[in-house]
Amino acid sequence: MTNTKDDKPFTETGISGKFMRIEPSYTMRSRYIIGEVHKVRRLTQKVREYIIVLKEEIDPDPGQFAMLWVPGVGEIPLSFADYTSKTVKFVISRVGAVTTYIHQNIGEGSKILLRGPLGKGFTIYPSRNCLLVGGGYGLAPLHYLAKKLSTKGCRLKILLGFKNSTDIFYVDEFRSISNTFISSEDGEEEFRGTVVELMKNILEEESFAIVYACGREEMLVKIARECAARNVKLEVSLERIIKCGLGVCGSCSIEPLGLRVCRDGPVFDGGILLRLEDLSRRSNEKICMNH
Ligand SMILES: Cc1cc2nc3c(=O)[nH]c(=O)nc-3n(C[C@H](O)[C@H](O)[C@H](O)COP(=O)(O)OP(=O)(O)OC[C@H]3O[C@@H](n4cnc5c(N)ncnc54)[C@H](O)[C@@H]3O)c2cc1C
Ligand code: FES
Repeated sequence: MTNTKDDKPFTETGISGKFMRIEPSYTMRSRYIIGEVHKVRRLTQKVREYIIVLKEEIDPDPGQFAMLWVPGVGEIPLSFADYTSKTVKFVISRVGAVTTYIHQNIGEGSKILLRGPLGKGFTIYPSRNCLLVGGGYGLAPLHYLAKKLSTKGCRLKILLGFKNSTDIFYVDEFRSISNTFISSEDGEEEFRGTVVELMKNILEEESFAIVYACGREEMLVKIARECAARNVKLEVSLERIIKCGLGVCGSCSIEPLGLRVCRDGPVFDGGILLRLEDLSRRSNEKICMNH
C-alpha cells in the first residue's frame, strides 16, 4: 500500500502528556468515506436492510465491520452483510438511540459517513465442508461469508435460528447460496427449538471441517461447548461496546484475556468463549456465567 499525504510512517504524538506511536494504518482506518443510501428494505418489524453506494472501493473481508457515523446522534459498529464494487449492504436491528434514529430518519438518498473495514474477519479455507450457524442480526456477516465461501469451492450447510416466525428474514438470500435450514422456538418453522439443538442433530449425521457462528453470546457459548466436545474447529464473531474501533480506548476488551474485539476480532477462535469471565452486556442481562 502506498502512503498518502496524511499517512506518514510512524508519527510521535502527545496524548495526555504521554507519547505514543501511531501506526500508519490508524490514519487509514479513522478516515471517513462518504456514501449514499440507494435502497432501504424492511425485513421484519425491527430489522431493515440498507444498500449504500460508497464513493470509493473498500473491499472488506467477511466478518470485518464498519463504524457508521450519524453526526449529532452517534457512531455504531455494523458487520458487512454484503459487498460488491462500492456497494455495501447492512442489516440494522432497531435496539436503541442510533439504530432507532437510522430506522426513522435515514432513507433513500440520505448521505452517510463510515470508516472501515475494521477488525479481523473469518478465515476462509477453500474446498472445505462448512457449517454456518446464525441467529438474529448475526445472520448479516454469515451472509457475506457464505457468498465468499461458495466462490472458493466450499460445500455449505446453513442453519438460521429465530425466536418467532415473525422474526424471520434473509432465508431466500441464504437459500440462493446453499442448503439452508431454519429453526424457530414457536415451532412454526421446519425445526421447533433453538438453532443449537438443530446444530446438534446435524453434527450427529455429518462431519464438518469448520463451524462459523454469529449471534447472541449465550448461544455462541453453547455452540463452543458442542464443537469442543466433538473436536470441530469453530470461529465466532463477538460483540462488545465499540467506541474508537482502533484498539486504543479499551472499551471493547475481553477479560481476562486482554483481547480487544475491534482490533483482535470481532472474529475469534471459538475456544476463547470457554475462557471468558464475562459475556457481552446484552447477553449479561440474560445469563450468568456459572456453567
Ligand atoms: C463488531 C460488531 C458488529 C455488529 N454488527 C451489527 C449488525 O450487522 N447489525 C446490527 O443491527 N447490529 C450490529 N451490531 C450491534 C450494534 O452495533 C448495536 O446494536 C448498536 O451499536 C446499538 O446502538 P444504539 O445506539 O441503537 O443502541 P444503544 O442505545 O447504544 O443500546 C441499546 C442497548 O443495547 C446494548 N448494546 C449496544 N451496543 C451493544 C453491543 N455492541 N453489544 C452488546 N450490547 C450492546 C446497550 O447496552 C443497551 O442495553 C454489531 C456490534 C458489533 C460490536
Ligand atoms: S473500541 Fe476502543 S479499543 Fe476497541
